[in-house]
Amino acid sequence: MEVIIQPGPDDASALAARIVAQRIAQKPHAVLGLATGRTPLGLYEELVRLHREEGLDFDRASSFNLDEYVGLAPGHPASYRAFMEEHLFSKINIPPERAHVPSGRTEDIPSECDAYEKKIAAAGGIDVQVLGIGVEGHIGFNEPTSSLASRTRIKTLTDETRQENAAFFGGAEKVPHHVITMGIGTIMESRTCLLLAFGKKKVEPIARTVEGPITAMVPASILQMHPDAKIILDEEAAAGLSRRDYYKMVYRGKPDWQQY
Ligand code: GLP
Repeated sequence: MEVIIQPGPDDASALAARIVAQRIAQKPHAVLGLATGRTPLGLYEELVRLHREEGLDFDRASSFNLDEYVGLAPGHPASYRAFMEEHLFSKINIPPERAHVPSGRTEDIPSECDAYEKKIAAAGGIDVQVLGIGVEGHIGFNEPTSSLASRTRIKTLTDETRQENAAFFGGAEKVPHHVITMGIGTIMESRTCLLLAFGKKKVEPIARTVEGPITAMVPASILQMHPDAKIILDEEAAAGLSRRDYYKMVYRGKPDWQQY
């Protein structure tokens, strides 16, 4: 794991955007894995800025979002499709037919999940997967005790996750119980994982993810087994890491050819 600690969320988001932009520059048909939640908003703002001001071109790229709620009405403002349209897709030039979000309105969930996996494979696999982290260590909507080898499938949310997302729905009781999420095995096949976490709420899940044992109780901890996982934090979220001085020293000492 490469742990990168930045002073605040803005610096961290700009750094993550540079990594994504570098990948698109090297491979214009790059496949992006995208996340929702409050955490990646700064990254998406910066990608929009790079697109508008510096010509970052998404015309040949494709994207696959991690997850979606099951059963929301079309265009529901709290759906992850609506979130992505508002914060990213409508502001860059990614072709709409290549900006994928699982459909939570399908009649046949297993077929939708299977088709989603096949579309990722047909696109050549995910080059850069953006991840946030839940307060209990989930990635996507893979709640604690999810199989570390899981594929895209339906999951039932924990009460904690429904509470965390209550603000988007105007009350926890309105948050759906079921979601479709890429599996942990799906996420682990991405060539690069970029996990972003900011603020005090993420201290414990980040400490357990980076320095704790690998366990399905903290799904993000499986990233210790990923050959190219970058954990991009602000100072607050890094506060529980015992080796944070070492991570900073490593980052400061990176040779030029490894800079982002
Ligand atoms: C939801 C999303 C996750 C996200 C998490 C954290 O559960 N499915 O992908 O990482 O929220 O959200 P936030 O970034 O708002 O803390």
